[in-house]
Amino acid sequence: MSLLAFDARVRREVIAQRPLASLTTMRVGGPAEFYLEARGFRDVIDAAEACKRTGLPLNVLGGGSNLLIDDAGVPGVVVNLKHMKRVVPTEHRLVVSAGASLTSVVATCARAGIAGPEGLAGIPGTIGGALAMNAGGRFAEIGEFVHKVLWLSPQGTVRYLYREEIQFTYRKSSLQGGIVLEAIIEGKRGEPAALLARMKQIMEQKLASQPYSAASAGCAFTNPPGQSAGKLIDLAGCKGLSVGGAQVSEQHGNFIVNKGGATCSDVLKLMGKVKKRVFEHHGIQLIPEVKAWPQPIELAA
Ligand code: FAD
Ligand code: EPU
Repeated sequence: MSLLAFDARVRREVIAQRPLASLTTMRVGGPAEFYLEARGFRDVIDAAEACKRTGLPLNVLGGGSNLLIDDAGVPGVVVNLKHMKRVVPTEHRLVVSAGASLTSVVATCARAGIAGPEGLAGIPGTIGGALAMNAGGRFAEIGEFVHKVLWLSPQGTVRYLYREEIQFTYRKSSLQGGIVLEAIIEGKRGEPAALLARMKQIMEQKLASQPYSAASAGCAFTNPPGQSAGKLIDLAGCKGLSVGGAQVSEQHGNFIVNKGGATCSDVLKLMGKVKKRVFEHHGIQLIPEVKAWPQPIELAA
């Protein structure tokens, strides 16, 4: 593919072989073949059309907080939505562009007296990534607060999907594969001061239990039904286990942290070791939660 495949309007914004590691919280991986920072919906649609014409893959990057990028990099186009970060409160709802941080959405909801999203305090990344992953935890999942989502489908059509038209399950949604452009978020009515206090409390719990400031991609594995992967990993004696610069956090067993200089290959090898040990100890097969580019993670049993 050459740069000529892009519409002339965005062509000068496209960067070839742009390193991606610094755009992820795990800080590993190689470059994007082509990289574009979208300024609005039109740029995203143009990139999708260029990919359709040339048959190359299109990857959408949010905050990079759930991503593991291959050391060899990513073929095709990576579109970063970081400039699309408008958050506008209306009377009972919030209109949010896909690249807005989830943290800003949660805080704006609390200040506007929109209750529920405060349960998502402290989850990094963008609203687009959160909706794709149905981000959440003990107190809430983002899917509960969707009124509607403006979505570019894999077929290239753009339309609003109402909550009933979207499947949200544990760390998954039917929005994956397409691109969230905008979301309208809603909740019950609440008292701003109480919502802000609740946010603070949840954030404190998160800081106390997770290696929040270390380089990681959050929980490496999903929780098996009724179990905590972190606890299973801990009981299997994996804390502190390392491969190269990647280490199983001493604080929370389900976080793999980049101690400095880790490669994607280190992280994958370590995840493989953890999975093997957990299977030996508990007879349970862990499933990766982190998304890998360009290939989904496949760990030997
Ligand atoms: P990215 O990592 O950029 O992308 C993740 C996936 O979403 C990719 O497949 C990407 O293509 C896709 N995507 C991104 N944007 C869009 C879009 N606009 N449209 C369609 N698809 C898109 N997660 C939780 O659920 N709960 C937690 O409590 C939690 N705690 C965390 C704590 C730490 C310290 C860290 C580092 C991570 C944590 N995570 C948690 C994981 C991560 O923050 C979430 O999965 C987050 O929602 C990912 O958003 P992102 O914008 O960073 O997505
Ligand atoms: N535990 C241990 N050892 C550990 C880790 C946890 O014994 O190393 C125990 C804890 O003491 C607790 C139980 O396991 O009794 C559950 O731990 P925690 O409260 O930390 O919750 P979790 O199930 O490990 C889930 C989500 C997190 C989310 C938290 C809080 C998954 C895979 N993880 O963690 O989400 O922040 O609940 O809501 O669903 C993420 O998805 O990336 C993520 C960080």
